Amino acid sequence: MRHLLSLEQLARADMEHILARSTVFKRDRGHHAQPLVGQTWALIFSKSSTRTRVSFEVGLRELGGRVMFLNAGDIQLGRGELIKDTARVLGRMIHGAVIRTFAQRDVEEFAQFSGVPTVNALTDAEHPCQILTDIFTYQERRGPIQGKVVTFIGDAACNVPASWMFAAAKLDFTLRLAAPKVFQPSADLLRRAGGNIICTEDVAVAATGADLLYTDVWVSMGKEAEAAERLQALKGYQINGRVVKLARPDALVMHCLPAYRGKEIDEETFEANAPTIFDQAENRLHTQKAILEWMVA
Ligand code: CP
Ligand code: NVA
Repeated sequence: MRHLLSLEQLARADMEHILARSTVFKRDRGHHAQPLVGQTWALIFSKSSTRTRVSFEVGLRELGGRVMFLNAGDIQLGRGELIKDTARVLGRMIHGAVIRTFAQRDVEEFAQFSGVPTVNALTDAEHPCQILTDIFTYQERRGPIQGKVVTFIGDAACNVPASWMFAAAKLDFTLRLAAPKVFQPSADLLRRAGGNIICTEDVAVAATGADLLYTDVWVSMGKEAEAAERLQALKGYQINGRVVKLARPDALVMHCLPAYRGKEIDEETFEANAPTIFDQAENRLHTQKAILEWMVA
């Protein structure tokens, strides 16, 4: 049985297969195979979502499946029923699960106890569907990411950069992370990721000659209590015109969204790169269909 719980656990060959199939699903939208006919999948979300929720709901339907959205707070899980009990109940009824939550161990436990294919739709540790989509989006415009320089600027200790870290070694690109020391990834994460990853506090060092500039919110879901100190600590870590000038002339600027203008990116840079950023958002649909197909193959 296949799950997509993290990029750390996803083999390079599977990553490349999913990326190749994303191209086909995008090209053939409306007339591709429907491997989920007869299946019902549940989305179980403990955090807000626009893109992930809608792209999975539409994607599951377009693959022939039925979908049920469960706000984690509305089911007994929200009143303290154990993940492993919830998983064993749902596993007897549904054919797959897409889970957005806080702890990585919760999606892993759900996968273990439910006995149905399980997708990590964002945890505090990783956002694998997002980064597979981002790589697909980069490659759609610029060709293979191998050998390129990807620069992440902002909170480099959250889920999105962590998934970028695990992708870097597997797909042979350089990843530069620009963040204040306290928002840099742990030594343990760097060791587990391997590959060519450079951490710096200097935005200019990270951005110079980059092929892709990437950012994410400064205040991730669940970190709201730290908002004031994060905004203060991260204020020099914005993608703006000055930073873009340091990158390669054909560099792409991407953002996983939602975007907070004037914080991690300025309005002008965001709007100048909106065609790429909203392709990136659309591509969640195509890449996740490729993920779902791979899971049930
Ligand atoms: N990028 C992303 O995962 O967006 P949502 O939080 O809207 O799903
Ligand atoms: N790091 C962000 C990603 C949002 C898609 C968060 O966890 O809120």
